[in-house]
Amino acid sequence: MTALESPALPFEPYKTKVVERIPNPSREDRERALERAGFNLFNLRSADVRIDLLTDSGTGAMSDRQWSAIMLGDESYAGSRNFAEFESAVRELTGFPHILPTHQGRGAENLLFSVLASEGSIVPNNMHFDTTQAHVRHQGAEPRNLAIAAAYDPESDVPFKGNVDVDRLAELLATAGPHRVPLAMVTLTNNSGAGQPVSLANFRAVAGLCRAQGVPLYVDMCRWAENAYFVREREPGMASRSIAEIGRAFFDLADGATMSAKKDGLVNIGGFVATRDGRVAERLKEALILFEGFPTYGGLARRDLGAIAVGLEEATDLDYLEHRIGQVRYLAGRLDAVGVPMFKPIGGHGVYLDVRRFLPHLAADELPGQALVVELYREGGVRAVEVGSIMFGDPGPPGARSLELVRLAIPRRVYSASHLAYVADVVGRVYARRDAVRGLTMTYRPERLPHFTARFAPVSPAVEVLPRPA
Ligand code: F0G
Repeated sequence: MTALESPALPFEPYKTKVVERIPNPSREDRERALERAGFNLFNLRSADVRIDLLTDSGTGAMSDRQWSAIMLGDESYAGSRNFAEFESAVRELTGFPHILPTHQGRGAENLLFSVLASEGSIVPNNMHFDTTQAHVRHQGAEPRNLAIAAAYDPESDVPFKGNVDVDRLAELLATAGPHRVPLAMVTLTNNSGAGQPVSLANFRAVAGLCRAQGVPLYVDMCRWAENAYFVREREPGMASRSIAEIGRAFFDLADGATMSAKKDGLVNIGGFVATRDGRVAERLKEALILFEGFPTYGGLARRDLGAIAVGLEEATDLDYLEHRIGQVRYLAGRLDAVGVPMFKPIGGHGVYLDVRRFLPHLAADELPGQALVVELYREGGVRAVEVGSIMFGDPGPPGARSLELVRLAIPRRVYSASHLAYVADVVGRVYARRDAVRGLTMTYRPERLPHFTARFAPVSPAVEVLPRPA
């Protein structure tokens, strides 16, 4: 099915109870804000942003039931009732016996890789997210991306572009073996590759390979509910199964998981790491106490755990997911109508613009992804994020990465269709004057996770170089 043909208005399955005013910075305000921010939109004040599509992580709106859970917080250091609620919600959803809360996803990654990975080991994944990749490297290990070839093709119509290339995984496991590969990971959905889903059949094949080689398989389950929605929609035999059942079918095949509850946990902060392995759990717990906090709060207020317990359940609601994915498709449909090049099929949590086709006149070292992000902000105060060479800080020349994307991530339950129509107009206006968009140069580059703190400056207008007289 191609939702792009009819961008139906997504029906909001909720009513508004609290509102927050949206800032309206003028063009001059925006120019000044860009200068102040060193042309890195992470440095903007939220007061300078009209529509904030920087991330869908921790930026969603909580429900009245979640706010009620917050008010019922039991702030005991140890043994809080909210921990029991959280633990039983995660256990019911995943079936994992050992569950440790963390302050967010990368807290879980830090614990997992500090326990399992070490100098010289290799961690395969369909595609690592930037913090996941950075945590693998932090242990001296090598992150290896093994997504199928179609994952790198923005134009082909393949339903599960998040899938792992099982042949390449089999080869890695056969040659490196469990002593070099301490764990394998699969990211649901594949955020670094345009929010594309992984099929249950592919995950089952991955789990079979891992089991045969004695390599534990962990899921990065940040967006597991959105992944389950696509499986239900696209995988044969899945249409009558619930989101929770489909999620469970994945978790039953895995040895553990890391989770940023800021995504499909529908909260503003929180996460966890879970495992079936009691010995790993003991070591995770020691690391947890060192880095995060006591195992019944893990770096969070206890009330936050109560909100996660409710959020995980709300994320399985089909009305909610239909609206959520519907919003992404609505925005994509409006962009498609004016010819804006996007990564297709459209993924779960945002629209990913295809930078190379959007700004073909900019060379890789003119940082076209960042230039586009700056231009969307300049045009209409829309904040997006580059998902390309800068986010992944790849060694090698700029543009070495095969995918150069700009993500318009949609926060959960926050914006309405008219906000998305506004965003589509802004992107459309930039697309109409794309030939005039100028490149950027990086003036400060931090060693790790460059996209958060790098600074940029516009390159001077191109000077026409005339051929030398003979
Ligand atoms: N894994 C994936 C797939 C993610 O998308 C993220 C975060 C993390 C792990 C880390 O979780 O932020 O809670 O520490 N993604 C955010 C984003 C930042 O904008 O996509 P975290």
